[in-house]
Amino acid sequence: HPQFAVFGHPISHSLSPLIHQAFAQQFGIALDYRTIDAPADTFAEAVKRFFEQEGGRGANVTLPHKAAAYALADERTQAATHVGTANVLTRQADGRLVAHNTDGAGLVRDLTDRHDLDLRGHDALLLGAGGAARAVAWSLFEAGVQTLTIVNRSPQAADVVADAIGEPARVHTRYWEDLGNIGCFDLIVNATSAGTLGQSLTLPFALAGARAVCYDLGYGKSAFSFLAWARAAGALHAYDGLGMLVEQAADAFELWHHKRPDTEPVYQQLKAHIA
Ligand code: ATR
Repeated sequence: HPQFAVFGHPISHSLSPLIHQAFAQQFGIALDYRTIDAPADTFAEAVKRFFEQEGGRGANVTLPHKAAAYALADERTQAATHVGTANVLTRQADGRLVAHNTDGAGLVRDLTDRHDLDLRGHDALLLGAGGAARAVAWSLFEAGVQTLTIVNRSPQAADVVADAIGEPARVHTRYWEDLGNIGCFDLIVNATSAGTLGQSLTLPFALAGARAVCYDLGYGKSAFSFLAWARAAGALHAYDGLGMLVEQAADAFELWHHKRPDTEPVYQQLKAHIA
């Protein structure tokens, strides 16, 4: 019986088991999917054991292990290589582990399919330049945003992300201190970990244009402060990252089971679960 799991630390509040079980039910698949709590120093060992001794076929990987998962894989998809982290590991028939990153594609599909946004022609602002931000920067760029402005508290990290994409006419950086005078945006994505850390961001209202869509990659308590800012700033829409979570999970599910789940009922179920 193939085994599936999500690795993280902590992991007890992960919604991945619920999501994958709901997908499996859509196809009548009896799924073995568990949480594996692995501290950083034993993560690589736990992954090896899971795939080599416990029948592991696929794993989701969440904080703080995404960079380690990327590093230990035998092969890496282009999306994972762009980002340098992995949120999905799959075991091939020959035993080799493949690292995938489906986070950015998950965000783009949530924006375009669920929230009906046409990204082409949008001027996007990305706040943050850590692992989460790298994943979505590439995907937003590839989805065709007109411009992508990356702003990070430490400016060097933003420059590294922009330089890696290497399209200075469309992707550039600004200083955090200048957020008040860089104009307004149609799409503002919060990819900082401030909310998760219980810190609030002080952002100028002027950033949100009249048709602004504001999106926090987090959900629940960690998204609260940014989404409250977005509403106060008069944004047209303020979304949390639950849709992205379901969409990135759908990509993992398809990699493992070769079936495309219907994400909408699961998204609705999670919204009720979180509320
Ligand atoms: P993740 O995996 O969630 O992306 P990360 O790689 O540690 O986590 O990145 C955290 C990001 O949130 C960074 O861009 C960080 O900015 P710095 O590079 O300047 O540290 C950003 N961040 C965290 N707390 C923040 C705060 N209070 N204000 C602004 N940015 C913050």
